[in-house]
Amino acid sequence: MADPILKVTDLFTGYDGIPVVFGISLEVMPGELVAIVGANGAGKTTIMRTICGLAHPLKGKILFEGTDISQHAAHQTLKLGISYVPEGRRIFAKLSVEKNLALGAYTENSKAEIHRRLEELLEIFPVLRARAKQTAETLSGGEQQMLAIARGLMSRPKLFMLDEMSLGLMPSMVEKMMETITAINHAGTTVLLVEQMVQEALEIAHRGYVIQTGKIVQFGTARELLDSEEVRKAYMGM
Ligand SMILES: Nc1ncnc2c1ncn2[C@@H]1O[C@H](COP(=O)(O)OP(=O)(O)O)[C@@H](O)[C@H]1O
Ligand SMILES: [Mg+2]
Repeated sequence: MADPILKVTDLFTGYDGIPVVFGISLEVMPGELVAIVGANGAGKTTIMRTICGLAHPLKGKILFEGTDISQHAAHQTLKLGISYVPEGRRIFAKLSVEKNLALGAYTENSKAEIHRRLEELLEIFPVLRARAKQTAETLSGGEQQMLAIARGLMSRPKLFMLDEMSLGLMPSMVEKMMETITAINHAGTTVLLVEQMVQEALEIAHRGYVIQTGKIVQFGTARELLDSEEVRKAYMGM
């Protein structure tokens, strides 16, 4: 068995020293697509922020490729190969699509390399090529989310973390987003995503963790979770 690319052990994390996440453990294997699912307020974003270094654990350990990153800052985890696309997109509204993308590669110094990656991503996201010179604020919600995803890929992450990318999108766009993430994963990038859209996320994931008020209440293969009566009752209205 290969070693996990990400291993979180007994993680407590929260705000101002008060935990909202209580002792969760999870791991992601190289090449996997793993989903953390749960209701609004369960602690998903807090976990993601802590893994990527925007917050630090109150207790517990986070290993990335065997390195303890619990006390790393976000720019350090990015350098190691972790890219986080936060909830709510956070693109630069007044900057062009192209410029937004280029900023995603800010750890890379070579202009030629940045250009190469830009070209590659515009190939994958043709809708962004058509709008490359427009300011980001002129894009639709779905296009802005595509831009946020593409920008997150500009650093060529080993672990790509996505926070509620389906939020506020219409169903057809959500489906497109899920297809895009599947394709990115098939092309070799390891993905960890969090979603309130439990069914949609589990349909593309290999494995999943269900989180409720800061604790993992269930985990398993995506199939097992999709078939679980508890999960179906609690999150799929069945
Ligand atoms: N900046 C903050 N300060 C204090 N509490 C927060 C802050 N952000 C989130 N929380 C609380 O932490 C808990 C988990 O929130 P969050 O991780 O955002 O959940 P999710 O992403 O699953 O919706 C919630 O109870 C929320 O109210
Ligand atoms: Mg959240």
